[in-house]
Amino acid sequence: MKLWGGRFTKGTDKVVEDFHSSISFDQRLYRQDIRGSIAHAGMLGRQGIISPAEADAIISGLTAILADIEDGRVQFDVGAEDIHMNIEKLLTDRIGDVGRKLHTARSRNDQVALDIKMYLKEEICATAGLLAGLEETLLKLAEGHTGTIMPGYTHLQRAQPITFGHHLMAYFRMFARDMGRLLDCLERTDVLPLGSGALAGTTFDLDRNSVAAELGFAGITENSLDGVSDRDFAIEFCAAASIIMMHLSRFCEEIILWSSAEFRFVELDDAYSTGSSIMPQKKNPDVAELIRGKTGRVYGDLMALLTVMKSLPLAYNKDMQEDKEALFDAIDTVKGCLMVFTPMVDTMTLNETVMAQAARGGFTNATEVADYLAKSGVPFRKAHEIVGKLVLDCINRGKSLEDLTLEEYREVSPVIEADIFDAINIEKCVAARRVPGGPAPEAVQASIDKGKQWLQEIKKRFTS
Ligand code: ARG
Repeated sequence: MKLWGGRFTKGTDKVVEDFHSSISFDQRLYRQDIRGSIAHAGMLGRQGIISPAEADAIISGLTAILADIEDGRVQFDVGAEDIHMNIEKLLTDRIGDVGRKLHTARSRNDQVALDIKMYLKEEICATAGLLAGLEETLLKLAEGHTGTIMPGYTHLQRAQPITFGHHLMAYFRMFARDMGRLLDCLERTDVLPLGSGALAGTTFDLDRNSVAAELGFAGITENSLDGVSDRDFAIEFCAAASIIMMHLSRFCEEIILWSSAEFRFVELDDAYSTGSSIMPQKKNPDVAELIRGKTGRVYGDLMALLTVMKSLPLAYNKDMQEDKEALFDAIDTVKGCLMVFTPMVDTMTLNETVMAQAARGGFTNATEVADYLAKSGVPFRKAHEIVGKLVLDCINRGKSLEDLTLEEYREVSPVIEADIFDAINIEKCVAARRVPGGPAPEAVQASIDKGKQWLQEIKKRFTS
């Protein structure tokens, strides 16, 4: 008979049983479910709701079941529907009737909310740890490339010279914001829902705070209806994961471009690329492409959760069982991507000569000529026009701005002196952009130093 079978006169249709069972995917919550039940039983015993001996029997039964599951000795039963009832059934089979007292003053509705929150808290910390690993790698690589010149782009057209270190630190900033989002989500997940009952709390005199303390929650939910029907925390995680994936996909797209024969800025390590089954010469950036592709499925997970929760009346509805697969998929995907992305970036080799050459070739110092004129009193708009014409003339004659003679410069504007060549020197152009947040080696180093400090501090919030 079902654990809830008293009110029923016949069994569940077999197809329905399979249809509404969640054990195939919620079994990954077994540790949280058992830990939560142990804390609940202990509290019931301390409050005199069950006897201390009963609490002890339940706790040792649950501890033994945990060990059996970890040793692979447990077969879950689809008929027992979900992880919560599977474990309760295993307990009763093992310790007899006293096992039936575990569910006193509790519902699967507050139980499942508890389990997901406990699980997600761990996974947020694991994801934050992987993100911190990526941030460390970016800091290390950036530090080695504060003087490595490359072209910066807008519209994917060469725009102005920057350094590779500066480019890497742009991603560092994105992932730093992602870290903030994960830790915000952690704070809102860190609230114990147990004690909300099915929806309306309970008449038993529970000590919710002691359960929260035992399970490592910062506090308890303030409203029983909200306690069982809130899945904002799962949505927030999927949103944060989606933004991480969006950032990874932008970085991957650049790596894919950079490793093409057209760019040749980087070469991926053989361990992080693959070949073609037909074209022997190919070395494909599959890992980067796959991360770019997996971004779509994490967005899908977020959309699935938002849509499941849309318009649901309070409090629990069975629709909410659909929360788990999407959440688990988002967790697995973002972690899996971070795990391969970091070493892929760490091991790729840079073609610094090609990068610097690309920065020199595309008139990326044209703004410097215009700035030079503006500093000599020519109105910037006028200077822009003069330099535009000069660039057009260079293009027609197959020359770069560095190739022009002083005489040729003075023909377009008499204010130009010999120091123009200093002004358009690519290295000097970059070095002069010392504004805080700019690409000059010293500005990038300052931002790396700040980043290191920030990372040290932030790590304390998810490692304990
Ligand atoms: N398996 C269910 C879920 O994942 C557990 C809660 C069931 N509660 C209920 N009233 N049917 O949401």
